[in-house]
Amino acid sequence: MVLKQISRHDFLRLVGLGGGALFLSACVPDNLKSAAFPTAGTQTTGTELYGTPEVEIALSAIEGETQILPGKATRVWRYLAEVLNGPTESLKVIPDSYLGPIFNVQKGQTIRVHFTNELSEESIVHWHGLHVPIEADGHPRFAIKPGETYVYDFTVLDRAGTYWYHPHPHRRTGPQVYYGLAGLFVVSDDEEGALDLPSGDYDLPLVIQDRLFDEDNQLVYGGRGMMDQMMGFLGNRVLVNGQPDFTLPVATRPYRLRLHNGSNSRVYKLGWEDGTPLTVIATDGGLLERPIQKDYVTLAPAQRIEVWVDFNGRAVGEQLRLVNLPSAAPDSGVLYPIMTVQVEREENVSAQLPELLSTLSLRSEADAVNRRSPREFRLAMDRGMNWTINGRTFEMTATARDEVVKLGDLEVWQFNNQDGGGMGMMGGGMALPHPMHVHGLQYQIIERKISSAGRSAWDTLSDGFVDEGWHDTVLVMPGEQVKVLLKFEDFTGLYLYHCHNLEHEDMGMMRNYLVEA
Ligand code: C2O
Ligand code: CU
Ligand code: CU
Repeated sequence: MVLKQISRHDFLRLVGLGGGALFLSACVPDNLKSAAFPTAGTQTTGTELYGTPEVEIALSAIEGETQILPGKATRVWRYLAEVLNGPTESLKVIPDSYLGPIFNVQKGQTIRVHFTNELSEESIVHWHGLHVPIEADGHPRFAIKPGETYVYDFTVLDRAGTYWYHPHPHRRTGPQVYYGLAGLFVVSDDEEGALDLPSGDYDLPLVIQDRLFDEDNQLVYGGRGMMDQMMGFLGNRVLVNGQPDFTLPVATRPYRLRLHNGSNSRVYKLGWEDGTPLTVIATDGGLLERPIQKDYVTLAPAQRIEVWVDFNGRAVGEQLRLVNLPSAAPDSGVLYPIMTVQVEREENVSAQLPELLSTLSLRSEADAVNRRSPREFRLAMDRGMNWTINGRTFEMTATARDEVVKLGDLEVWQFNNQDGGGMGMMGGGMALPHPMHVHGLQYQIIERKISSAGRSAWDTLSDGFVDEGWHDTVLVMPGEQVKVLLKFEDFTGLYLYHCHNLEHEDMGMMRNYLVEA
């Protein structure tokens, strides 16, 4: 039974009720009791892009529960996955976490993912940061109903880096991510492999999220009504990899830490409590050309920053805290801990971080087709108190005339956060940061301008921006104008750009852009 008509696309095949679900029962961790586990059904296949993809994975979104706090288990939504074909290390489960398994793939690999929606509402998976054809991008118009399966076929075209996946149904992305649906998608390639960076147990993902629990240990979402919608959801408790009071045991040697802000709206200003600088080696779209030293890094929702950190010279038993430093970001006026690093054993493995990490084929603004008149996107709240882009809200399949671009063009886009001034209510508008994300590509951040009214808030976290390298999400502060340089390559079709404050996104601060041949 074909449940959805997208048959003109060769990339897709559609699978009937419950298809592929049977494999998954093997990988339910002990700490997770499923509330709605899939039952077996018949499978209908359509056309495939690759006869035999190198990696084939069954992924499903389920409702279950997991132990987060002492006492009662917490009801969560989560991704489960299983490798059907290809290297078993293509998936790595984070122990004791509601987070989805980490995809571990090689650049160039062909991938097929059978995504089965076992939730009680519609969903669809988006591969955040990856350069994939539109049929594999997880646009909300492709959302599937409970019980349906969507098949993604794509080639990993992106360079080594830390990408991620999460749901993208319209108006429900915020709650679905909040209840636990998110996972990392790690790409490796030969260039990175030659660097001999810390790997295996020394290459660690750290997904940072804030959550709010009720007295029954259950997740609370949207309890502040309008306030949550306008500001974005803010929790009162930081989880790392799905755990509270996260402690990372380490040895005296170098590590690669992949920091990901998986929060709905919270902006972090991250630093070591003892003031040790951070050595940044990668951003959203992979390695930087050279490592960069920062006193702190500013990590907006959806962004990734990788740091190389050497615990040589630290004593066994020593503790080091990664903290959120006070800034003008909403609800961030005080220092609070993110996680504790506990030096547990001597290893005294020393390794030098290479001075040159990568050669980036960066583009030049002078080559942009619209270098004299950048495409402008005004970010503001309208009179109805909706977040908008150029005064518009989301329309499922529409694009305005100024949202059509040409395949192969290099363009300058300018995000303009108009409600300048300090943070909070300002002159009839609400001044908030907007992390602006563009689907389907990585861009360069080429210029920032801050208004005098916005300057003092901006100054509290701007030193933590890592604008070098490749990005798919950029923080645009109140009163700020940010220019990015992007190229529309390989694929035509309807992609999204939006604020990655998930409540803003769900409220409609999202639009399509159309890539035309
Ligand atoms: Cu991670 Cu459209 O988003
Ligand atoms: Cu995305
Ligand atoms: Cu926003």
